[in-house]
Amino acid sequence: MAELDAQSISQLKLKELEARNQAAFDGGGEDRVEKQKAGGRLTARERLDVLLDPGSFVEVDRFVTHRSQNFGMADKHIPGDGVITGYGRINGKLVYVYSQDFTVFGGSMSRTQANKICKIMDLATKNGAPIIGLNDSGGARIQEGVESLGGYADIFLRNVTTSGVVPQISAVMGPCAGGAVYSPSITDFIFMVKNTSYMFVTGPDVIKTVTHEDVSKEDLGGALTHNQKSGVAHFATDDDRHCLLMIRELLNFLPSNNVDDSPVIPTRDRPDRIEESLNTFIPDNPKKPYDMLQLIGKVVDEGYFLEVHKHYAKNIIVGFARFNGRSVGIVANQPAVLAGCLNISASVKAARFIRFCDAFNIPIVTFEDVPGFLPGTDQEWSGIITHGAKLLYAYAEATVPKITIVTRKAYGGAYCVMSSKHIRGDVNLAYPTAEIAVMGAEGAVNIIFRNEIKNAKFPEEERQRLIKEYEKQFNNPYVAAEMGYIDEVIEPAFTRKRIIDSLEMLRNKRTSNPPKKHGNIPL
Ligand code: HXC
Repeated sequence: MAELDAQSISQLKLKELEARNQAAFDGGGEDRVEKQKAGGRLTARERLDVLLDPGSFVEVDRFVTHRSQNFGMADKHIPGDGVITGYGRINGKLVYVYSQDFTVFGGSMSRTQANKICKIMDLATKNGAPIIGLNDSGGARIQEGVESLGGYADIFLRNVTTSGVVPQISAVMGPCAGGAVYSPSITDFIFMVKNTSYMFVTGPDVIKTVTHEDVSKEDLGGALTHNQKSGVAHFATDDDRHCLLMIRELLNFLPSNNVDDSPVIPTRDRPDRIEESLNTFIPDNPKKPYDMLQLIGKVVDEGYFLEVHKHYAKNIIVGFARFNGRSVGIVANQPAVLAGCLNISASVKAARFIRFCDAFNIPIVTFEDVPGFLPGTDQEWSGIITHGAKLLYAYAEATVPKITIVTRKAYGGAYCVMSSKHIRGDVNLAYPTAEIAVMGAEGAVNIIFRNEIKNAKFPEEERQRLIKEYEKQFNNPYVAAEMGYIDEVIEPAFTRKRIIDSLEMLRNKRTSNPPKKHGNIPL
């Protein structure tokens, strides 16, 4: 009899656990789940199913509820309190995750929701694994006031202290407004979903009141706005599923933490593959553009390049690829856009990417074809001096292996900035088509012989002869190679092989900067 009682008691307890679990799984209830799906969005749990390896998710804090007594909240409790937290695996590697559940109090940030997120962030930092946040929230839990704000600030602090320790990735998959935007913005990469996500500090209504501008949520802070105009977001994805699969893709290139190695993905692409087409790839006419993305595709493993920030500052290209299975960060001028000039947005875009690679020990390969910094009052008055210096600073402070290939132009200050030997480029190669000089030949002659040329009688043939002479003397890679500023002038067909040889040679590179609290990058 006593045994039976014991059995039924344990069964009752199991039933209670089941019921409690079910209440958590139900989230905000059928109607709200329907509404979420009608908007084209997955639920918070469905998102985790797509993001993580099947069956790998372990939930933490499923039964946490808020403690608010105000505004009718005392009797409104939904287990989990609007966020699902835990850990799981992506391609076998441990990651920590949180996924806000918009069906529960609009996914809004309560004190206890913040505690859950902080707990998972602390675990990620302690255990050296990436943290991925899936954001879908109406912002601060309005019924909780400053407690909610404190929760946000606790998360911001962790975003900052964890920066450079483990990769932090944010997906914005619904609303993200007010101060809530600052957690994703501190993280390393922001993914947004077209048409269903938006980010802004102040929304359309406040803007209308203050500046009388009429703007929709999508135009103000949708995925395309932040990928193309502001540069706040790094990836624009078509829907929730696409977004989550892209995060998996990105993670494949990254180490788990700052003392770990990136995953090595075996490849059938031979390390000594010769790409004959590169010998005639750079146009004879130095003013003719070409697509640097095509050049990258010809040399990386299996032609696969994961472009980051691809809709923003297209005059510079950044992203991840592999050489002989190992991850590298690629930075490349794009002669097909703005002739590959460096401007403010390109400098900031590339600087941030370089600092990410350096923090996580990912070697940097730079393809250089840059006529200089973009001239103009707009650039000068907006601070190209400070912003261009960010790129210089990022390259100079980076201690990871740095390989530079000058394909064509390396002019002026941009020559110095783009991972030159002088700022600790480890291997600096050039194509025979390279022009490493203070500026283009025509501009140089027009300045050197300004007074003579002003004279209307100065023969045009003589000007052309001087241009040719300048070209011959300076617009080639050999002056720099004679100085040792370029290690080797290579046949372009051997680009892949030479990059892989160099990466192999630099595998155990050890360099550090002088001890200091931190440098003062020109922000
Ligand atoms: C509490 C919230 C909430 C919030 C939404 N809900 N936002 N509850 N605090 N911040 C609740 C709603 O009451 C509703 O509950 C449910 O979530 C779904 O919201 P809807 O309005 O029905 O959804 P939708 O029409 O899709 O509109 C989404 C929305 C809107 C645009 C996000 O909910 C909204 O404007 N919310 C308030 C946004 C806001 O002002 N937040 C504070 C910003 S300041 P029921 O029970 O009806 O389903 C801020 C500062 C952060 O966040 C500072 C950090 C430093």
